[in-house]
Amino acid sequence: MPDRFDLPADFRWGAATAAYQIEGAVEEDGRGPSVWDVFAARPGAVRDGHTGAVACDHYHRYPEDIALMRGLGLDGYRFSVSWPRVLPTGAGAVNGAGLAFYDRLVDALLDAGITPLPTLFHWDLPQALEDEGGWLNRDTAYRFAEYATVMADRLGDRVPAWITLNEPFVHTVYGYALGTHAPGRTLMFEALPAAHHQLLAHGLAASVLHDRGLLAMLSNNLTPVEPASPSAEDTAAAEAYDALHNRLFTDPVLLGRYPDLSALGVPDDIFGAVHPGDIDLIHTPGLDGLGLNFYNPTRVAAPTGPGLPFDLVDIPDVPHTAFGWPVVPEALHRLLLNLRDLYGKALPPITITENGCSVTEDTVPDRPRIDFMAAHLDALARAVADGVDIRGYYTWSLLDNFEWAEGLFSQRFGLVHVDFATQRRTPKASYAWYRDLIAAHRARSLPH
Ligand code: FCB
Repeated sequence: MPDRFDLPADFRWGAATAAYQIEGAVEEDGRGPSVWDVFAARPGAVRDGHTGAVACDHYHRYPEDIALMRGLGLDGYRFSVSWPRVLPTGAGAVNGAGLAFYDRLVDALLDAGITPLPTLFHWDLPQALEDEGGWLNRDTAYRFAEYATVMADRLGDRVPAWITLNEPFVHTVYGYALGTHAPGRTLMFEALPAAHHQLLAHGLAASVLHDRGLLAMLSNNLTPVEPASPSAEDTAAAEAYDALHNRLFTDPVLLGRYPDLSALGVPDDIFGAVHPGDIDLIHTPGLDGLGLNFYNPTRVAAPTGPGLPFDLVDIPDVPHTAFGWPVVPEALHRLLLNLRDLYGKALPPITITENGCSVTEDTVPDRPRIDFMAAHLDALARAVADGVDIRGYYTWSLLDNFEWAEGLFSQRFGLVHVDFATQRRTPKASYAWYRDLIAAHRARSLPH
């Protein structure tokens, strides 16, 4: 595997985390409950009954974690803000002690020479808003805009670029359609108003950010979709899945229209959720950068029974991660070129805001992770050579952490191993590899 890649001199290297997955301290300093606290407490919801109550205890250990970032030589750090830490009931009075944590974090990052890249929503909705319908309730979008205002007003003097939402596809489908993530609803396609309301929230927050001279990004989990065969049936199934997973979340933002969802049985107004003017609110602010979270491609076949209009099938003959996700680095190259071809001039610069893998028997010599990252960076560099504007790469993740429904131990994604009993951090081989890669890129990029 190569350990150097032909990337622009100002290419930015980073790592990503999310609040509920690392912070812990769920009852400290006035934080309110989130949907993930409530969901994780349900018997059987999370593997081994784990919760994020302590996670990596980053709330207290952030100076040590920033020292690890500094050791890597990161340009940027993507983290998320816990909405219920700042606004315990999702709206109304600001919790000063919670907000102060992000002040300290941002200042410590800046002192370490690392640019903070906050995500405003990485799935931990305040439970009080869930009690009012969560993302199925249109009002949640307006509460989100108020929360974005609080954050931008407090940190906008030091934080230039913001990600509004993380992966609205995954949150909608796992959280509202299938119920395997919080808030645990099982609405199938009737979950899609939650997608529209998140996109509306994005648009409203992007306007708030722009009004303050700040940049607005959106991170989507995108996947290149391939039909299992060239048959008309498999191709139609692949198109239906592509509309649901990818285009539903990028077309309205970049093109100002929803894709055709009729193959899913979803009406144009998404069950009445789309009001006149909404598409403008989503599209008009514009997007300053598309955050791309890439893990794997998806193979789709025509359905074999009633129910869904597609079947997801495995991709055989390729390695799989501990999660069972197929490892196909070339698919990242294909996806980036597809985005360029599909959106043309409407496509803003791309930043890879997540990419990484969980490794079975993950130990400190984590060779499979190095191979995974190297192969994906190679695919990314080829897309840059093909003319795609890609500004940075944030690996998922800095630390082993609370992997949602999989709990703490089974899916470790970190460059740094975390012993959850002692909170001891141990850098893995991938940490040293990434550090050396960043240093070599920087050395080559210096003026001679
Ligand atoms: C992404 C999530 C992130 C993490 C990785 C493995 O879908 O955004 O929080 O769980 O998957």
